Amino acid sequence: MRTDTGKPVHLKDYRVPDYLIGKVDLDVKLHLSATRVQARLAFRPNPNGRRNAPLVLDGDGLTATKIVLDGEVLDLQNSASWNGFATSDAFTLNAPPQRPFDLEIETEIDPSANTQLMGLYRSGSVYCTQCEAEGFRRITYFLDRPDVLSVYTVRLEAESSEAPLLLSNGNKVASGKIDGTSRHFAIWHDPYPKPCYLFALVGSNLGSIFSDFTTRSGRKVLLGIHVEHGKEPQAAYAMDALKRAMAWDERVYGREYDLDVFNIVAVSDFNMGAMENKGLNIFNDKYVLASPETATDTDYAHVEAVIAHEYFHNWTGNRITCRDWFQLCLKEGLTVFRDHAFSADMRSAPVRRIADVRALRAQQFAEDAGPLAHNVRPETYREINNFYTSTIYEKGAEIIRMLKVLIGDDSFRKGMDLYFDRYDGKAATIEDFISCFAEISRRDLTQFSLWYNQAGTPILKVTASYDEVAKTFTLDFSQSCKPTPNQEKKEPFVIPIALGLVVPGVGDIALRAGGNDGASQAEISSGVIEFTSTQRRITFCDVARRPIPSLLRGFSAPVRLDYAAGEADLMTLIKHDSDGFNRWQAAQTYATRMLQRSVACIRAGDLPRYDADFTAALLSIIEQTTDPAFTAQAITLPSEADIAREIGEDVDPDAIHLAREALRQDFGREIKEALLSAYTRLSEIGPYSPDAVSAGRRALRNAALDLLAAGDRLEGVCLATRQFEDAETMTDKFAALCVLAQIPGTEREKALDSFYGAYQGEALVIDKWFALQATIPERGTLNRVKALMKHKAFSYSNPNRLRALAGSFAAANPTQFNADDGSGYDFIAGIVLDLDPKNPQLAARLLSAFKSWRMLEPRRKALAESALRHVAGAGALSADVKDIAERSLP
Ligand code: PHE
Ligand code: ZN
Repeated sequence: MRTDTGKPVHLKDYRVPDYLIGKVDLDVKLHLSATRVQARLAFRPNPNGRRNAPLVLDGDGLTATKIVLDGEVLDLQNSASWNGFATSDAFTLNAPPQRPFDLEIETEIDPSANTQLMGLYRSGSVYCTQCEAEGFRRITYFLDRPDVLSVYTVRLEAESSEAPLLLSNGNKVASGKIDGTSRHFAIWHDPYPKPCYLFALVGSNLGSIFSDFTTRSGRKVLLGIHVEHGKEPQAAYAMDALKRAMAWDERVYGREYDLDVFNIVAVSDFNMGAMENKGLNIFNDKYVLASPETATDTDYAHVEAVIAHEYFHNWTGNRITCRDWFQLCLKEGLTVFRDHAFSADMRSAPVRRIADVRALRAQQFAEDAGPLAHNVRPETYREINNFYTSTIYEKGAEIIRMLKVLIGDDSFRKGMDLYFDRYDGKAATIEDFISCFAEISRRDLTQFSLWYNQAGTPILKVTASYDEVAKTFTLDFSQSCKPTPNQEKKEPFVIPIALGLVVPGVGDIALRAGGNDGASQAEISSGVIEFTSTQRRITFCDVARRPIPSLLRGFSAPVRLDYAAGEADLMTLIKHDSDGFNRWQAAQTYATRMLQRSVACIRAGDLPRYDADFTAALLSIIEQTTDPAFTAQAITLPSEADIAREIGEDVDPDAIHLAREALRQDFGREIKEALLSAYTRLSEIGPYSPDAVSAGRRALRNAALDLLAAGDRLEGVCLATRQFEDAETMTDKFAALCVLAQIPGTEREKALDSFYGAYQGEALVIDKWFALQATIPERGTLNRVKALMKHKAFSYSNPNRLRALAGSFAAANPTQFNADDGSGYDFIAGIVLDLDPKNPQLAARLLSAFKSWRMLEPRRKALAESALRHVAGAGALSADVKDIAERSLP
């Protein structure tokens, strides 16, 4: 474990490498506890680097058994003889040759003892690697930085029976038995220069499915997906998604796949979702395996999105990579943007947008509002693993989405083409990327780039006025952004505001430029206002009747909108806005306001009261449903975390929970008939299909069941029990179990037991079982979770399992994690400390569940702070946990 938090890394200190490595030859002899790695590295001085600089290779926990410099064996016991050092975390040559030279390095590593899951490790019976961000240095000494690109040839050797499948990046060039032994080998060559974080190897005994894809230029690519034996049928959907992703990238971006094979390996122990290693993606099996009996519709959508995401990295990340880790969003933001667009094309675009924005607000807005806020392009870090955040990923994607809105689809595509052309085979920066679009669109994108360099969520304030005599309608915009760590003052952002004016009974009216406010007719008619200063006024003329502004359509910018829309106006938008996203948003805004009022009532000791008009509006949505997936989103109330974020300070999670429950109950009672009729009407017909339309029907039916049960427990238990017993798909079965889990009693325990019994052999389903119990909003849950940690199926060393139980408790059970006696905080802090020596990356992620602690009411705030201080003060912390703990504290 690396515990050196000493040195923060700064973007401003970036220097090109002094040496480059053109070729890497690896020979890896796989062995359970003593894997031998021989690396032959072809160095040359970088003409742009410093002459006579020392060569410092990174290492992490390494022991070299032999090092040979240009044919000469170095005496490792006597480093003075060769003027250098070899320690576990660096290999240094003080005076390396100033011409091309070779280093051969032999290391011995123990994959079985690797609990960090970085470098070469074992997941079950699989040997696999994870090198992003800095895992390659746990395999051999190297210039472990993304701007050192090399061509790799990898020879793998293993016991034939233990690891019949030997994979690495690129194309396979040779394989065979090793005479006189029970071992075999394979040689892989990857012609595309790549940074070492994209290196991967796998040695395993897995079941495979194969297919192929012919690229549009006629090259045939062999596709393989490798999963645990017996699970092959569960990989079929992933294979289908992969082929659709390959076709989509050709059609939408003109990007073809470039090797003869593309392999995906699913493993059970993985710190993240998946990894885009060149030609050899390694996945958390959660994002590969899916069958109707074991995966929900949401799981299917995730498999599709993650398969596409990793595939799209082949161009955005691999062919063009990042110069340094400060540029992480160059590949991640862009690739998320691409996978969102893919999913929107495969499914219903507005419904996808709603889901994406829900996730953005839940994760990224929360991060941006708390102590862990950081730039999309950070300027400093202590531990890069802690920057795989929703800010880099999701906000990074939103920035590109805005860019596309601002310059238009056509220029955007041309800009992407230029980027691919100019930087193919290189390691690029955000400036490189942005300059392509500036050039194509002939726009100055300097101010726009502030999105990368200023943290925090801007607040967009809007006021409106209608002049009945002049027939003009005026919107006044202003923007502000609260301070974030180390950034007191912010410059104004470029905010694209997509908008429309809606007149009841008429719909969207034509937009006409009016006053001398600087807005051209072209800007106004485009429907997108560019807001670049602290204030702007726009006047529309020829407005015959007072219109209702529909602002930030499609969520055109990642900002918080502050506009005091009248209740009646929101109601009109719920019913009539031509923008699907804003119809949903109007309902959310309305509900959030009611909920905020009732939270205040509850805290004052009064009973909350709800609004019959709102119920009526939602009822009308259910009744006119043409898109069930949309309706399911519209009748799902804002989450407790959404409400907390809106309140923003002095937050009382119990009051929020009570207010939301009261509204759900009220709502479930008031529209019971409509819910029941939707529930019956949408019952499953025909065989299961994971497509978006069928999934939408199930989503609405299950949303209806959830509300029905809120309104009438008895009836709810009855319907849910029947659905639980009859369900043929995991979607319906698990939805019923979720409803039952909210209602204390024997039905719940019986259902949980029977679910466990039925799915014991399906790890991913058992994760759901753990997660669901961890999120029950009741006092007894902490004890239940503690008991579950002793369950025979629980394991500290499997990240999915730990996230399911502890992660869900911390991130998705606001009342119990934030219990007012501090028990939830202490529990999670204890797990973080236990886990840290084994898997610091995972421990740090779990600790970041404290990210919103400063908005809590004083009592909880003090308790959360003391739990954080307890962690921060513990001895021998990893760099990962120490960094999160210290940044979280004032
Ligand atoms: N680069 C991976 C992605 O596609 C995420 C990842 C980061 C995986 C670090 C493992 C380690 O988003
Ligand atoms: Zn990615």
